[in-house]
Amino acid sequence: MKPLLHIVILAAGKGQRMRSNLPKVLHPLAGRSLLSHVVAAARAIEPTRIHIVHGHRGDLLRRALTDSDIEWIEQKEQLGTGHALAQALPSIPDEAVVMVLYGDVPLIRPDTLRKAMAARDADGDRGVALVTLKVTDPHGYGRILRDHRGRLIGVIEEADANEEQRRIREINTGILTATAGILRTHLSGDSRDDSASVNAQGECYLTDILALVAADGHLVRTVSPQTTEEVLGVNDRGQLARLERFEQARIAESLMRAGAGIADPARIDIRGRLRTGIDVFIDIDAVFEGDVVLADGVRIGPGCVIRDTTIGPGTEVLAHSVIEGAEIGAACRIGPFARLRPNTKISQGAAVGNFVEIKNSTVGEGTKANHLSYLGDAQIGASANIGAGSITCNYDGADKHPTVIGDGAFIGSGTMLVAPITVHRGATIGAGSTITKNAPPDTLTLSRASQRSLKSWRRKSPPEKSESPVPESDSDSDSTPDSGS
Ligand code: UD1
Ligand code: CA
Repeated sequence: MKPLLHIVILAAGKGQRMRSNLPKVLHPLAGRSLLSHVVAAARAIEPTRIHIVHGHRGDLLRRALTDSDIEWIEQKEQLGTGHALAQALPSIPDEAVVMVLYGDVPLIRPDTLRKAMAARDADGDRGVALVTLKVTDPHGYGRILRDHRGRLIGVIEEADANEEQRRIREINTGILTATAGILRTHLSGDSRDDSASVNAQGECYLTDILALVAADGHLVRTVSPQTTEEVLGVNDRGQLARLERFEQARIAESLMRAGAGIADPARIDIRGRLRTGIDVFIDIDAVFEGDVVLADGVRIGPGCVIRDTTIGPGTEVLAHSVIEGAEIGAACRIGPFARLRPNTKISQGAAVGNFVEIKNSTVGEGTKANHLSYLGDAQIGASANIGAGSITCNYDGADKHPTVIGDGAFIGSGTMLVAPITVHRGATIGAGSTITKNAPPDTLTLSRASQRSLKSWRRKSPPEKSESPVPESDSDSDSTPDSGS
């Protein structure tokens, strides 16, 4: 039978070095909180239970991570990592294997956790394994102490280390596995006066128990991760930004392997999940959020922001378009500078041009809205043409009302469609109309004040400027009626 595996994620630290009101472990990395990355890695190794030790603003953590099977434990005072683990131990049986993860070490891979498990398993119940790594810059991490035979004899925190110890380049990642029994023996929240407990900082360090474990005759096996990034901790915003770039580079790499072209893998941000077909091309500075799917041959122009959207094959999204919650069919042309808001459905071959905003609407096959429009709560049929500057007036200050535009309708430029309203199939609306009644099919409808020209009218001349000998500046002349448009 598989032994019980309990994963304890330490996430109670104040994260003071972040200088933030948000708990450190809730800061986002690639669109998800640091903590949710750690939980995902934990889940991948199929533990019996996940425990999260929280402190500072635990309510926020619980709200952010609603997985019902997580056991939440409060650490009332942040007395150190050892004290934090001690809070979780009472509910874990002695024979269970415990793996300790840190809420601020987000990129840890399940493979590394499995490696640590295997190393621990090799020694049975007495097994203890720690993930360590040799790095070029060990600054800020606990250092691994070994005896002349190379056996691990302890971990020294940077703050407590002497000159020589600070030169050690093998660091403690904090990731540790042993049975609950071993951990409990050496780390009891109630017996904080034993040697493991309080140190110079007044904190109970989890790392201190490694020396006790070793002194007790246990062999502490160490394993290393595949990449350094996996075990880097986030203590300040600089480290967070660096990890973000590592993670983005990793995601970009995997998209390119799957057949997506990326203009510059250093200038793409995926804050969620992006799935791409083959021969997709993504230009610089595109941001993807939530769940985005780009089918084969989709092209995304520079500076686009796309969230929770599906885009069909061969569609092109031109520069600086902002799209959220849309479903876009094949072979469409969107943008530049288009804005698609939630619940927008664009059918195959449609065109949505610059400065067009669409919300909660469907746009039929081959329909075009190429310039300066607002379409809200509208059902637009196929092969319709929405002229420049035409708008659905969908909101009366209290309620939203629908607009229906039939197949093949032609809406002249500058039309105000006052909803609720229907423009039937094949109808033509004359430019500049304000339409307040339904327009019949295959008919020209227009509402326009008739044009007049007043021969007797004289334009007022500007008041004479007697004192000023200097000629008028350009900007002054802009406001005179002379500068016609
Ligand atoms: C810790 C390790 C250090 C290691 C480094 C790796 C200790 C004493 N030091 O240092 O050896 O190299 O991680 O990233 O373990 N926490 C609590 N309760 C507390 C204090 C901390 O839950 O009372 C949590 C924090 O939320 C964090 C984790 O434990 O997720 C680590 O705490 P942090 O203060 O960041 O320790 P480091 O100085 O990074
Ligand atoms: Ca840390």
